[in-house]
Amino acid sequence: MGFYSQDLVEEVRSRSDIVDVISGYLKLQRKGSNYVGVCPFHNDRNPSMSVNQSRQIYHCFSCGAGGDVFKFVMEYENLTFPEAMKVLADRAGIALPERESSKEAKQQADIKAQIMEMNKLAAKYYYYTLRQPAGKKGLDYLLGRQLCMETIQKFGLGYADQYSNSLYRYLKSKGYSDQLLKESGLMQVDEKRGMYDKFWNRVIFPIMDSRNRVIGFGGRVMGEGKPKYLNSPETKVFDKSRNLYGLNLARLSRKPNIILCEGYMDVIAMHQAGFSQAVASLGTAFTVQQSVILKRYTNEVLLTYDSDEAGVRAAQRAIPILRDAGLTAKIINMEPYKDPDEFVKAMGAESFQKRMDEAESSFSFELRMMERQYDFEEPESKTAFFKALAEKLLTYEQGIERNNYVQAAAKRYHLRYEELLDLVAQTGKRLGGLTRAPAPIQPVRQKKRLEDAGLSSQQLLITWMSLEEHMFSVVRRYVSPEEFTDPLCQKVAKLLEEQKAKGQFHPAALFQYFTEDEEQKKVSAMLGGALPVMSGREEEEKALQETILRVKQNHIAWQTKHMDPNDMEMLQKIIQKRREMEKLHISLD
Ligand code: UTP
Ligand code: MN
Repeated sequence: MGFYSQDLVEEVRSRSDIVDVISGYLKLQRKGSNYVGVCPFHNDRNPSMSVNQSRQIYHCFSCGAGGDVFKFVMEYENLTFPEAMKVLADRAGIALPERESSKEAKQQADIKAQIMEMNKLAAKYYYYTLRQPAGKKGLDYLLGRQLCMETIQKFGLGYADQYSNSLYRYLKSKGYSDQLLKESGLMQVDEKRGMYDKFWNRVIFPIMDSRNRVIGFGGRVMGEGKPKYLNSPETKVFDKSRNLYGLNLARLSRKPNIILCEGYMDVIAMHQAGFSQAVASLGTAFTVQQSVILKRYTNEVLLTYDSDEAGVRAAQRAIPILRDAGLTAKIINMEPYKDPDEFVKAMGAESFQKRMDEAESSFSFELRMMERQYDFEEPESKTAFFKALAEKLLTYEQGIERNNYVQAAAKRYHLRYEELLDLVAQTGKRLGGLTRAPAPIQPVRQKKRLEDAGLSSQQLLITWMSLEEHMFSVVRRYVSPEEFTDPLCQKVAKLLEEQKAKGQFHPAALFQYFTEDEEQKKVSAMLGGALPVMSGREEEEKALQETILRVKQNHIAWQTKHMDPNDMEMLQKIIQKRREMEKLHISLD
């Protein structure tokens, strides 16, 4: 893992001038006391990113990206904090200490690099096979779907032949162990047959990350057959929730929007028709992380989901996610065709462009789908519809945003604006202010010393929790996010818990939730904070136990201070908690 002392982090920071570092990635120009450049985190030609040398931060006025030198390197190179630390330390000629725990990290990094290497070899192997006599079937299939050779090459399409151990034997000949082969996701293992290729007799779509590294594969049967598409499982290098098919090309397309499709063939057909901004999620539903990634490149996403029921549902799920990321979503009508692939084949690129220009706003789409469920001829049903409408409007952030939508809806249903606003307000009251989640309660300030002692152990515990997923689970068994009295620590703990619940534990991604410079620094300090040097498991357990106890004690002290002295039930609860705490024994299992 390689976590470093705050001193070391600050040393690396002080020797990594932000202007120097960013200049290594893009061209900066002096403008007054600042530097400006074209922001690499969204699609732009104008120099909207400003780099402030005295404060050592960068900020983009267009997309809002911003942070310190570590954040920039993490974002630009897609690295974790310790990895960015390594890059900057190397650059500054600062030697980082080898830690016991960093050996493990090295091993992990090594496994990742090897899996990437195997993926690359596999992609080349499939690509080569497609062009051999053995691959004729695959090539005929792709040509039959009207892909041209240039497209086939651009996407690195390949073919897995009909034998189920060709790739296995090939990778074995390159010296990879069975253990690594298993971890690569390229192989299947069962007791009877042992290890064999996951993909055979399928055309192959290599999946690239935004840095053009092969991270996984999709395979399609030729003609009928089940399953139609087979995808690599998640591996150490393949995280389906954080990647998008085609993004490596779309990010460079310099188009004013991104087209979100359902599958590989749609993306490829779109690109071939000139829509190089098309991407797709990877055989799974569209995720929050994907929306955050897209926001780096665009402000507008056009959805081209199937026009069937499943497609409508997929769009309905994606819309709020896109909206929360600050993206405008529109829906492209592909009637009477099922998907963009079929549409462009039948109607051509110009017609598709026309449909793009006419795309429906997500709000109108959502209302239209809602209208379908009610009968406006029936008074009762009509009333129910307006109630549902008011509830829908309540899901928007209060203020200008909501008012705009209320206005649009009033117009659509020929209501007076004030009338609808009133209905929304009433509905809000009836639902008890159930709009957005309320802001967390700020704990009252307490004595300075107590607060400081409590704070440092809370921060230390966050460092611990963000170390790795298993460690998070261990700590979570004993401490809940509510037990952090520091609002920032509590927020980080809650976010980590959300990540964990979604099966997407990536502490470095937390930066996006903090916009204040001060907050970012504190979070960066926690995620990159130093842990005491520990020589073994026993020591580690002891140190962790101590920190957990401090955090729990701090919480109890806080509760005691803030409780109503006449609340006997609460008092009993606190006493019970104290007792439990005395018996607490932490195990790292
Ligand atoms: P569809 O099943 O709608 O694709 O799945 P399609 O358009 O008919 O596929 P083609 O055009 O015949 O090849 C849409 C997308 O969902 C993913 C694939 O990415 C597919 O392109 N998918 C579908 C899977 O990952 N697994 C499946 O079993 C099916
Ligand atoms: Mn299709």
